[in-house]
Amino acid sequence: MEERKGFKSNFGFLMAAIGSAVGLGNIWGFPYKMGKGGGFAFLLLYILLSMVCGLILMLSELSLGRRTGSNSVSAYNAVSKRFKWVGWLTPITATLILAFYSALGGYCVKYLVVNIGSLFGAEWGANGLDGATIFAELIGNQMESVIYGGVFLLITMLIVLGGVSGGIERFCSVGMPALFVMLLIVIARSCTLPGAVEGLKFMYAPNFEPLKEDFLGVLKTAGGQMFFSLSLSIGALITYGSYVDKKQNLVKNTVIIASAGAAVGLLAGMAVLPAAFALGAPEDAMKGPSLLFVTLQDVFEGMGRIGPVFGILFYGLVVLAAISSSVSLLEVPVAYFVDRNRKKGKSERRWLYALLTMVVSGILCTVTCADGLGGNGLWIPFQRFFAGAEKMPAFCESWLNLLDMISEGLLMPLCGICTCLMIGWEIKPEFVRAEVETSGDRFTVYGFYRFCVRYITPLIMLFILWGQIKDFFNI
Ligand code: PHE
Repeated sequence: MEERKGFKSNFGFLMAAIGSAVGLGNIWGFPYKMGKGGGFAFLLLYILLSMVCGLILMLSELSLGRRTGSNSVSAYNAVSKRFKWVGWLTPITATLILAFYSALGGYCVKYLVVNIGSLFGAEWGANGLDGATIFAELIGNQMESVIYGGVFLLITMLIVLGGVSGGIERFCSVGMPALFVMLLIVIARSCTLPGAVEGLKFMYAPNFEPLKEDFLGVLKTAGGQMFFSLSLSIGALITYGSYVDKKQNLVKNTVIIASAGAAVGLLAGMAVLPAAFALGAPEDAMKGPSLLFVTLQDVFEGMGRIGPVFGILFYGLVVLAAISSSVSLLEVPVAYFVDRNRKKGKSERRWLYALLTMVVSGILCTVTCADGLGGNGLWIPFQRFFAGAEKMPAFCESWLNLLDMISEGLLMPLCGICTCLMIGWEIKPEFVRAEVETSGDRFTVYGFYRFCVRYITPLIMLFILWGQIKDFFNI
């Protein structure tokens, strides 16, 4: 049997796991969700949720992976009778997310290219066009969007083909520190623009109104954000956990990964919103895709000749963040097949499974790109089923919404709830304690962990799931 190779160093593992967490969810989602959802009040809720749900689930997943030493499907299979089936949800969810993630990642690659073009005054640069026009042209041009989505997927596949240490670890060990430096440079520019303070206020000023008006709505947004931005409930951390050395302290690593994810979200807000406000973007432009692809492009254009340099830095870091996340998505199904072959004594054939997953995600990515965030109307057939209904369910708005709501909205919380029930009640929290303590460290917060994983975490996730279901069907 071929040896199962893991991460070479704990630094490499941390960079890969932080890379998985830090992605479009943090850089693009976090700032505007925070601004809209109550500023500092939202942040407090997010931190609270991270502590009683995020950290608990992350530690559980890393332990499950390291203890079983296997991919996510086999990990559930190995430890549980009742929740075996949950394992199968993970590669399915990962493949769905990879599909729309690549479509968005492809857009980011396009903006990187546009800014490089602008720097050299090339025809394929912004050429005087504003962000809205560039974006409208991009999503209207189905061929171009599909090509960029394909390029993004291809880069992801090439890295995963390099294997865990040769591909993923190597890429993230260089990419993550680089991302951090780029982020600091962009923050320095953004926060020193005149009028930048308004952006910081928008993001950080405590505002309890949204919490009073629609607590479940904010809870759902903060909860969904936490799941997605910490890469939970999708098998990514089980898979990465299975490659971690037994000597490493899992609790410490969990805290580092989650804090880094939240920190980048906050820092990203400081890079994005002050600049947007300083350059007079309208407040409703702060939400959704337009913030990243319309408003910010205008911000960079508005900076004059130096603009493209910041554009390249910013979209470069977004692409880095997105790729380090997408590799962790692709590794979930790939690890399953590779492990299966290894067990049977066959050769790994990593390339074959990376290719197969890429084809499946690629087809869905093509549809998402061709649909152009709903702009090109490929979602219209869904609406026929609801003809005459008072309100169209939200998933009918675009393919992106549909894929996102199924995977992030429903499958992720479902998998999270089942994982907690499995650990809390079937295989018992002792399982995680034993794994944490194999490194020789004491699990000092075990009492807290045990209480959360049995009661608090599943209960809160149930609320989040309910919020999502309501949203899904527009109840
Ligand atoms: N955490 C990533 C982000 O914030 C997305 C992701 C989810 C990656 C699940 C891997 C697994 O963009």
